[in-house]
Amino acid sequence: MTPLLKIENLSKKFNGRTALDNISLEAYSGEVFGFLGPNGAGKTTTIKIITGLLDADSGNVQVNGFDVKKQFEKALENIGAIVENPELYGYMSGLQNLRQFRRIRSGVTEERIMESVRFVGLENRINDKVKRYSLGMKQRLGVAQAILHRPKLLVLDEPTNGLDPAGIKELRDMFKKLAHEEGVAIFVSSHMLFEMEMMCDRVGIINQGKLVDVKPIKELMEQAAGGGGTVYRFTVKPVEQALKIIASLEMPTESILEFNEQYFDLKVDNTETVIMINARLAAAGVGIMGVAPQEKCLEDIFMEITGGGGIQIA
Ligand SMILES: Nc1ncnc2c1ncn2[C@@H]1O[C@H](COP(=O)(O)OP(=O)(O)OP(=O)(O)O)[C@@H](O)[C@H]1O
Ligand SMILES: [Mg+2]
Repeated sequence: MTPLLKIENLSKKFNGRTALDNISLEAYSGEVFGFLGPNGAGKTTTIKIITGLLDADSGNVQVNGFDVKKQFEKALENIGAIVENPELYGYMSGLQNLRQFRRIRSGVTEERIMESVRFVGLENRINDKVKRYSLGMKQRLGVAQAILHRPKLLVLDEPTNGLDPAGIKELRDMFKKLAHEEGVAIFVSSHMLFEMEMMCDRVGIINQGKLVDVKPIKELMEQAAGGGGTVYRFTVKPVEQALKIIASLEMPTESILEFNEQYFDLKVDNTETVIMINARLAAAGVGIMGVAPQEKCLEDIFMEITGGGGIQIA
């Protein structure tokens, strides 16, 4: 399968400082590809280069096979984008904004405009002035604008910034639908891991201008379940007594990750250890209400991959 987005060896410096260091990746039809990294990692820079707003120092970008620099018009026909904030005129209605935007996109019918409006669920408010829109409505209008010409690739720079959980879910569902039902390739950046976890099929992790890893979310989760030990939550009574027993077993002190009055979380290498601890606790008369493995989330994995730091967890 040919990728809809192909980035090869992209590098960019600003005033001698490296912002992007040899980035290569591909995104395909039908997938939501998450571009995940902390502030200053290089997400917006990459997206500006993809959309032709910025030139790279070296490397190239192809969209549906068209080079963004050499065949800009052709490439642009295949891209819909929201970079930073959608460009909207507040004094015009939503519909007027879309009609205005149609002028730079050939072949967009009135019918297609209304179809896009319905897709983002703005039909009841489309005649209101945009300055009276909420942030969530503006983002939805931005999506309508970006998909007007039926682009094969949709590029979105932190589209959920500033939205409440309901607004985030609406956008997320829209992106998934576009990718999974209409075969659009979606390239979406974020610095929030939990969001990527819910929205993306694959993620590329960028840190300080370098692509650290590219993986299907599933594989990342499986990788997490395997290496580095598993965290078990012991719900016991009394916790204090249980912790004294654990201490007497001379386990590494850092293996107790968290505790409160109800439970403690312990990192162990194998299930034998869990069974052994259970037996010791029971023998000492500690009441055991539950012992359960805790699934690792993307946050933990990111910490493992990058050595931690700089990422917003929620
Ligand atoms: N026009 C510019 N001039 C100078 N430096 C820039 C410029 N644009 C970006 N940079 C630098 O390049 C690096 C990457 O910035 P970029 O905006 O791509 O990060 P980001 O991942 O989008 O971060 P954020 O999550 O804060 O939006 C940063 O160190 C930034 O200061
Ligand atoms: Mg940015």
